[in-house]
Amino acid sequence: MCGIIGYIGSEKASPILLKGLFNLEYRGYDSAGMATLNNEIIVCKKGAGKIHDINHKLNFLSLEGTIGIAHNRWATHGGVNDINAHPHFDCSKAIAIVHNGIIENHRELKEALSEHKFESETDSEILAHLIEEELKKGFSFEDAFVNAILKLDGNYAVLAIKAGEEKILAARKGSPLVVGVTDHGIFLSSDIPSFLEWTKKVVYLHDYDIVIAERGGIRIYNLIEGQVSRPIDTVEWDAEQIKKGGFDHYMLKEILDQTETIYRAIQQDIDVVNKIIDEIRKAYGIFFVGCGSSYHACLAGSYLFSKIAETHINVVLASEFENYEHFLRENTLVFAVSQSGETADVLEAVRAAKRSGSKVIGIVNRMGSSLTRESDEFLLMNAGPEICVLSTKTYTSQVALMILLAYALIGRYEEGIQKLKGLYMDIYNLTSRSMREHLKKLAEMLVHKEHIYLIGRGLQFTTALEAALKIKEVSYIHAEAFAGGELKHGPLALIEDGTPVIVFVGEDDEKKILSNANEVKARGGYIIGVSAERHDIFDYWIKVPEGGDLNPIVQIIPMQILAYKLAVLKGLDPDKPRNLAKSVTVI
Ligand code: F6R
Repeated sequence: MCGIIGYIGSEKASPILLKGLFNLEYRGYDSAGMATLNNEIIVCKKGAGKIHDINHKLNFLSLEGTIGIAHNRWATHGGVNDINAHPHFDCSKAIAIVHNGIIENHRELKEALSEHKFESETDSEILAHLIEEELKKGFSFEDAFVNAILKLDGNYAVLAIKAGEEKILAARKGSPLVVGVTDHGIFLSSDIPSFLEWTKKVVYLHDYDIVIAERGGIRIYNLIEGQVSRPIDTVEWDAEQIKKGGFDHYMLKEILDQTETIYRAIQQDIDVVNKIIDEIRKAYGIFFVGCGSSYHACLAGSYLFSKIAETHINVVLASEFENYEHFLRENTLVFAVSQSGETADVLEAVRAAKRSGSKVIGIVNRMGSSLTRESDEFLLMNAGPEICVLSTKTYTSQVALMILLAYALIGRYEEGIQKLKGLYMDIYNLTSRSMREHLKKLAEMLVHKEHIYLIGRGLQFTTALEAALKIKEVSYIHAEAFAGGELKHGPLALIEDGTPVIVFVGEDDEKKILSNANEVKARGGYIIGVSAERHDIFDYWIKVPEGGDLNPIVQIIPMQILAYKLAVLKGLDPDKPRNLAKSVTVI
């Protein structure tokens, strides 16, 4: 949903900003741009396309100056073209801004500025003109910026520079923005990986924070609290973690990371786990909410809580949560599950829960994200940065945490830990070269298919849903999951000679799901089994260990690899599927 970065310091800004843009590319990659302050005037280059290509054409490095701002765009308002790319300017081209978020009242604001000449169709450009208008009234750059920000409705993380002013001004509300502190300068960015190569020292900003970044340091002013000071934290990620580590794509690297990330997910503070378990015991009504893969982890969690702890969980898509708001009470417990901790739909659900006085527990990967601040307690997935737009390692970390909580709830926390620790060798084998070759062969058979169907029952149904999402979003092949028992209620009509159907078999439901597979086979379907045992009915077999409660982890990993192989065979970039962006900060 767009990435922004700014730098002010003693080094030339453009090479630093360009690296930052590459590191932020996962947040948006339909256009990019950069503006620097050079000898008191602002110079800018921007265009539509991938950063690599835009840079090849425009040469960002030719921009001189030690102060600059840059932007990766994921279009929301206005088509993908050079003009709509950020930075945007006021009429006099003295103010440049970059923005991530949505300015909801931009039309009304624009009507009030009828004298101004707007160049783009974006909601963002309004900010530059609002600042210009305030400057005309005689306000300083800082005051004009604050006055302009106060006029905005919606979400924003913005950076602004002005010709002749040696500073970057920043503001955040609802969209992520962090400060990086180095010996040679200050970064302001949507996300830490963009500057991790230079510093691990970060300041997490809060909503309504205004930052004045100058060469000597930063000042922070909160629109509600006034002058504030925020601590400098040190992040534990290192720059190596965000590099591809010799792999062609982040997606593959992150799939292989799972040997370790499950282990890291279970490194939890037992006091926090106990507090959460207390809340679960006291709760009258528990909701798990999330979007996309995180929603699938919630679904898996509900089956796990039912199976392991005999506890009922309501699972709701975060974007649908408002329909359930009237069930919320002070003793309702809402688990908000989100890798980024910045997904707007999830944060909306969190705010709805808080309005009703309900407690919120976050399950989140990003320390310092909005979800870590807005929830009453949170568990960190500790999966490290996930750069590929698709969730892979963070999905299995979420499921691991669900398993851990369900075991903790029945007083068998240590047993949960040991089970999850025991996955190391299984994941190692599931991601081995020979497994990847085996899945490549399957991908070669499936790559020209128009449809792939997936079936499972119980926990395995949730894996079918997640596997279908992985396949469709990265390979653009239509993939759809059904509960095995539902086939006869409609979807069987889709099966014809050679239709591929992936069947997830767990020991609990073996008989029933195999009988569903038989229904498919009888109509000419091509059966791909994912199971511990080979069955005659399978035309192709993917051997996985029988994991019982851990099946959602062991069965999804080969599917992540299959999805990856399909994308690569089709010549697609698995790290950046079309039309998608990581961290969806719009509703
Ligand atoms: C799928 C995927 C998305 C995210 C969803 C929620 O591979 O990555 O479906 O799971 O956008 O994102 P978070 O977990 O950041 O809230």
